[in-house]
Amino acid sequence: MPKTKNDKNTHVRRDPFRKEELKQKGLSEKFARLRGMKDVIFDENKYWDLVIKKASDLAEIYGFKKIQTPILENLELYKKSTGESSDIVSKEMYSFIDKNGEKVAIRPEITPSLVRAYVENGMLNMPHPVKMFSFGPIFRHEKPQAGRYRQSHQLDLEIFGEDSPVADFLLMLISYNLFSELQIDIELQINNIGCKVCRAEYVKKLTAYYKERGNRSRLCNDCKRRLEKNPLRLLDCKEPACSALKEDAPPIVDFLCEDCKNKFTRVLEYLDEMNIPYNLNLSLVRGLDYYTGTVFEIWAKEEGEKSASNQMSLGGGGRYDSLVESFGGRPTPACGLAIGIERTVARIKTSGIPLEKEDKKIIFIAQLGDAARRKAMGLFEELRKSGLRVKQAFTRDSLKDQLEEANLLGAKLTLILGQKEMNDKTIIIRDMESGNQEVVDYKKVKTEAEKRINNV
Ligand code: HAM
Repeated sequence: MPKTKNDKNTHVRRDPFRKEELKQKGLSEKFARLRGMKDVIFDENKYWDLVIKKASDLAEIYGFKKIQTPILENLELYKKSTGESSDIVSKEMYSFIDKNGEKVAIRPEITPSLVRAYVENGMLNMPHPVKMFSFGPIFRHEKPQAGRYRQSHQLDLEIFGEDSPVADFLLMLISYNLFSELQIDIELQINNIGCKVCRAEYVKKLTAYYKERGNRSRLCNDCKRRLEKNPLRLLDCKEPACSALKEDAPPIVDFLCEDCKNKFTRVLEYLDEMNIPYNLNLSLVRGLDYYTGTVFEIWAKEEGEKSASNQMSLGGGGRYDSLVESFGGRPTPACGLAIGIERTVARIKTSGIPLEKEDKKIIFIAQLGDAARRKAMGLFEELRKSGLRVKQAFTRDSLKDQLEEANLLGAKLTLILGQKEMNDKTIIIRDMESGNQEVVDYKKVKTEAEKRINNV
């Protein structure tokens, strides 16, 4: 392929150890998995399935309906919603010009697509609130580290057309229930960043504070930019010099208008009423531009002291009452939440939650000789269709190998068909635990196998 101008500018950091490791495995580095990406292999999927199932079941119980949207969208969608001043859009988004010259982006979060889908599919005319949930990958070109990937997965819930703080509370309740059921101790962090009206006044005060106290040169480069574009995010900076300044920054709660204050108080009352502990975190502002009013994050409770600066949230969300309107829909209050699957899975692996016991009622079908193999294949299909859990290793010839496989799979019974059984129209049923074998009439194999497996 001819070199393009971009190739010249491309800087891919190569790790010599990784290159050597891959070489030993027989894979050239140019085919290797990209940095920050992850393979989820075999049994790890049991944890994923558990989280996704629990979260989806909870979403459905609370009235959310499933929706799937494309992973590739117009670049403008994210500029307008996630926001041009956010790190996600300004630094981390995977975007490119496609073959038609259209500027597109691979979604860095799910919310904008659901807002678009809500307007584009005429959901404004459906009975409200419209509650939906979606699951899938998101992409952010972040610096990879434990718990931070370039492709990660979210379970995302959104509520459209509900102004009541009950909706905000419902999202927190669902998160609380999910993490309790997964036996993960969490801390709910909550704040209110005001509506368009009261926030404007606050932002003026905050900017003045940082300009006066911050003596701009002491701020990190990101915060210098934030001071111009999105001063609220100064409160979120993890750099020690900037972080120290937030201690004396004016608190947003002092500037909330009556409406924001009332709604926030009601959310806190609901949490108190349901005994859901929370931490009022006045520097929680969230890194996306669309939020208004109540915002929250779910942090894993750390053993020992871990500073907020290296805290990685398991989930986060909040209200975004102006976003639907900004896409051309009629004014529609909305709020939502996204839970990170990778970080949740990493937690449950250490929480010791038992995974659902595998159904051990496995029947293995073994065969010896080609004629028996063909008959065994038919038997396999018959038993499978009747709802029994059958397994096989039809590519194997040796009975010893097949019995080993049956043991590995945890089979309780093995049905053995060999030449003798073919001639006698019988089949052997072997109890894998005791090793006892019984010859039965082939015609009765299904009823005999069912009888034995159900006694396990
Ligand atoms: P977010 O806080 O950017 O919010 O992401 C939500 C969760 O996704 C995080 O708490 C984290 O668990 C997970 N996550 C995000 N980035 C990564 C990453 N690079 N690696 C691993 N996990 C990650 C949103 O995305 C909003 N759309 C939430 C929302 C929905 N607000 C309203 N509706």
